[in-house]
Amino acid sequence: MSIATELSPAGTPRILFLSRGDVAAAGGDHSELYVQTLRTALVAHAEGRVVQPLKPYLRAQGKDGHIADRIIAMPAHLSDPGVSGVKWIGSKHDNPNRVGLARASGVIALNDPGTNYPIAILECSLISAWRTAAVTCVAAAALARKDFAEVAVIGCGVIGRAQVEALLQQFDHIRTVHLYDLDGAAARRLADEVTAERPELAVRVADSAEEAVRAGDLVVPCTVTDQPYIRFDWLGRGAFLSNVSIMDVHKDVFLGADKIVVDDWDQSNREKKIINQLVLEGKFSREQLHAELGEVLGGRRPGRESDDEIIVLNPMGMAVEDIACAAEIYTRAKQQQIGTWLDLY
Ligand SMILES: NC(=O)c1ccc[n+]([C@@H]2O[C@H](COP(=O)([O-])OP(=O)(O)OC[C@H]3O[C@@H](n4cnc5c(N)ncnc54)[C@H](O)[C@@H]3O)[C@@H](O)[C@H]2O)c1
Repeated sequence: MSIATELSPAGTPRILFLSRGDVAAAGGDHSELYVQTLRTALVAHAEGRVVQPLKPYLRAQGKDGHIADRIIAMPAHLSDPGVSGVKWIGSKHDNPNRVGLARASGVIALNDPGTNYPIAILECSLISAWRTAAVTCVAAAALARKDFAEVAVIGCGVIGRAQVEALLQQFDHIRTVHLYDLDGAAARRLADEVTAERPELAVRVADSAEEAVRAGDLVVPCTVTDQPYIRFDWLGRGAFLSNVSIMDVHKDVFLGADKIVVDDWDQSNREKKIINQLVLEGKFSREQLHAELGEVLGGRRPGRESDDEIIVLNPMGMAVEDIACAAEIYTRAKQQQIGTWLDLY
């Protein structure tokens, strides 16, 4: 079924605007919506039922700018439900300290593939954070040890917080959350929030990234660094690392792990990211990749096969994830009459 152009009473096209609050009211502030939607979208991606051009990065400061200062355009089309769209997400690493705003915000525009007209505009930071956390959750179900109990999150900003919340929502066997942030106050703030919501859970603020990583069965870096610091020998046997912020792990992690899984090979092998550096050095290749995540979720490739394996997921973040989740939120918002209709003409 396709998502279709809406007409105003005057017969002219209109679009639905969903603010961040509207996105939350339509179910976009809980992992459930994202986990369900992403499983389908990731399998569709692996089976070639989506169109997803490589995303361009607009860096106004060029190579001199901070790695997290950019605006990224992420277009995709999915045939089920029939929907096209683009996420246009802007980020400045120092927004939190300089202007008191979150690092990233942006919009998702959804389009009707029948007319290619825009049909909705959604604020995207909530969707981005939750879908990224949900990718870790669906991956953990296939790639982490079934009994993983110790979770380590490095970097306790917006993305780190969503990872912790979604993992706790999806896995009730988590025993301890280990947090580390270069900014100790950020780690303590998140620890206090989690403890207030779940007093039964052990929440530890680590003194170093190494201490947190060594403690984790499931490790999630969510920083804004461009300097690798996580070494392979920090990872215990059986660990699963969801490499959300991409640049935190040293090359030896990719070379030493038993299985490397990516969301999309072409997106991972570019922009001088660590995998791309290894490919350029002749040390890694598509053949050495275990799978794309959707291949594992769809049963075409195995997930974890023993409690001993060290498995790394490199989730660059895909437009199909954002567009699929935004389409689900748009559908629910319309059903619940949430949002503001705007005339396009
Ligand atoms: N893979 C994906 O799909 C995906 C999606 C969204 C965001 N991200 C990435 O997630 C990361 C975090 O985003 P955010 O919005 O939470 O940013 P944020 O600025 O809100 O938080 C980042 C936190 O990391 C801390 N930090 C920075 N360098 C560190 C280091 N070396 N060690 C420990 N802590 C460090 C900062 O103090 C800050 O608290 C970004 O790199 C972003 O690009 C990835």
